Amino acid sequence: MTDGTTTVTANSSGVFTLMKPAGGYTITATTAGYETTSRVCTVTAGATTTINWSLTPAHATYSDYSSVPPSQQIPAASMNFVILAWNDLGMHCAQDDYSYFLILPPFNTLHAQVFQRGAGVVTSGITVHYAFPNKANSALHTNFWNYSSNYQYRAKYGWNVASNVGITGTPLAGAMALDANGVGFVATGIPITPYDDNGTWDPYGSATITVTDNTTGAVLASTNVVAPISTELNCSNCHGTINTFLNILQAHDKNSGTTLVADRTNGTLHLCAECHADNALGLPGKQGMKNLSLAMHGFHKDKVNVSADPLNPDCYNCHPGPRTNCLRGEMFHAGQVCKDCHGDMSGMAAALLAGRQPWLQEPRCGKCHDVKHQENSNTLYRNSLLANAPDPKMNGKIYCEGCHNSTHGEFSSTNPADSGIPQQLQGDSSWSWNCYVCHTDYMPMPAHM
Ligand code: HEC
Ligand code: HEC
Ligand code: HEC
Ligand code: HEC
Ligand code: HEC
Ligand code: HEC
Ligand code: HEC
Repeated sequence: MTDGTTTVTANSSGVFTLMKPAGGYTITATTAGYETTSRVCTVTAGATTTINWSLTPAHATYSDYSSVPPSQQIPAASMNFVILAWNDLGMHCAQDDYSYFLILPPFNTLHAQVFQRGAGVVTSGITVHYAFPNKANSALHTNFWNYSSNYQYRAKYGWNVASNVGITGTPLAGAMALDANGVGFVATGIPITPYDDNGTWDPYGSATITVTDNTTGAVLASTNVVAPISTELNCSNCHGTINTFLNILQAHDKNSGTTLVADRTNGTLHLCAECHADNALGLPGKQGMKNLSLAMHGFHKDKVNVSADPLNPDCYNCHPGPRTNCLRGEMFHAGQVCKDCHGDMSGMAAALLAGRQPWLQEPRCGKCHDVKHQENSNTLYRNSLLANAPDPKMNGKIYCEGCHNSTHGEFSSTNPADSGIPQQLQGDSSWSWNCYVCHTDYMPMPAHM
């Protein structure tokens, strides 16, 4: 293990100790047969910083494949059907309280693809179910439906959905639908909260995915997948801890000449997107007004303190957050933080002013990686399919996120909750690198050619 200047080897129990002056370091671990990986860490004077590091077995590279076949002894080898499942964004944000205004409703989206090992993608003759064993009643933990349900007389946000049903009509458990590309299954807008039914805060709650045969009813495969959602907005860092949301409405009325506080008293609640366009909700806002992303990042760009630690708090003032740690994927290991991909607050504001469409135009893997490892043209990462596979038959059939997981939580993630599926199929926490996950014969080629 090395920080670039000092190198140490492990003691007999696998523990490394490096003595360093206070500061920020990138530590790299190397050992035969495992991936070389890096972690960023901060050392405080007089204190011990502990990093728990589980190494990932070395991924096959092209040269490995031509000499040593990857092990066939992975857990998937005993399975006929395998499921890849993932969340679209890596993190969804919602509010704990909807009694003042609405930025975003509870909304989560899960995807799944089913493969018969040795035979390819399966999309017909099966039903794919999802359910949240620990999150079966969101209404216990959010007042969203007080303002969105038919049965209530109170002010509304414009949706008429029953309790525990999301704004697109999706319930907390049910059958997934065939997706837009016809290669997998999707459940859009599942209204989960970060709270389990028993009140436990778990922003990385797990859904059970079950695939059944439509003819026999037999269960062909099942797995668990994380559906991240957090209400850790931290507006209270600056808008007061007593009545944060009232404070925000007051500030808005004072600065922008609106009557949001009085409207609420008179029984009218507002979505921010009523006036500020929001592509996340597909709402156009009012003519001539800033879109919500520009209004928020532009106005707050000189209000956010930027500290030496780029995640404390910076973007974590409003995105979740020091408690949730939404940034946890492979790129986080490599020391990349929000601003490396999105720009800082001023950069965000400038790009939006220059016309970037929020939510629809986002950073691209291909900006930092080579053309063999880029998204499909004019397509977001979350909608892209592997395009330059070792055989054209494999092209256009497998989502990038199926093998690599969602943005911000790309395999291998620092949060074990993300790695259930690679652990189930490969026995490690890495992306789907082992061809035997889906194939039954040995092929000496990498996934991206
Ligand atoms: C780092 C500090 C900080 C954080 C965190 C923060 N704000 Fe602010 N915000 C401010 C300041 C300062 C103002 C100006 C207050 C005033 O003029 O009275 C403001 C004003 C606003 C306004 C009024 C804008 C206008 O001009 O009409 C809105 C709306 C707002 N904030 C929303 C939010 C929301 C929502 C969050 C959490 C997601 C949030 N803020 C988090 C510092 C912050
Ligand atoms: C009834 C319409 C309306 C609603 C609802 C509304 N806004 Fe505004 N907002 C405005 C107007 C008007 C302005 C000032 C003109 C502009 O910046 O577009 C403004 C300005 C802002 C600004 C300051 C932008 C800047 O650069 O000075 C922020 C931040 C903001 N709104 C956030 C929000 C948030 C967050 C919500 C939901 C809690 C919200 N707004 C709801 C109408 C609205
Ligand atoms: C390694 C690059 C990278 C880093 C670091 C990164 N992002 Fe992203 N982010 C992306 C990409 C890529 C997308 C678009 C995903 C897509 O195309 O489906 C995205 C999208 C988003 C979105 C839109 C919703 C979504 O997920 O598509 C938000 C919000 C966001 N990022 C916030 C953040 C915040 C806050 C941080 C830091 C805590 C951060 N990102 C760090 C690459 C990054
Ligand atoms: C003051 C609060 C606040 C801070 C600080 C903040 N954001 Fe946001 N951000 C928001 C809100 C609110 C939304 C949701 C807007 C919507 O629903 O359209 C958002 C949405 C986004 C999106 C998705 C929309 C888009 O523009 O594509 C990205 C990406 C994003 N933020 C990145 C960042 C990054 C990177 C930082 C730090 C440099 C940051 N944010 C800091 C409040 C904030
Ligand atoms: C801001 C630049 C940047 C962006 C954008 C980016 N990456 Fe990375 N990525 C890196 C760096 C730096 C590394 C570590 C060095 C390396 O292995 O190339 C890395 C490493 C990786 C690795 C591990 C490679 C290995 O063999 O160990 C994977 C997988 C990966 N990135 C996938 C993605 C995906 C998927 C996206 C898009 C969602 C993406 N990256 C976007 C910078 C980036
Ligand atoms: C069948 C699983 C699979 C799919 C689907 C897949 N990848 Fe990969 N990806 C891999 C494997 C295996 C590697 C490492 C070996 C290689 O490069 O082929 C990798 C490596 C990467 C890397 C790291 C490259 C580096 O610099 O080391 C990036 C970035 C990446 N993929 C992006 C993508 C994108 C973008 C898509 C969708 C267009 C995608 N991948 C689809 C399996 C997959
Ligand atoms: C997530 C599942 C998945 C993984 C992992 C995967 N493949 Fe595939 N592969 C497919 C699918 C689906 C097809 C298309 C089968 C069809 O429809 O004919 C395919 C087809 C192929 C074909 C064409 C011949 C055949 O057997 O149909 C080759 C060659 C191939 N893959 C090589 C690889 C290699 C090499 C790897 C490991 C780097 C790999 N695949 C990993 C799903 C996968």
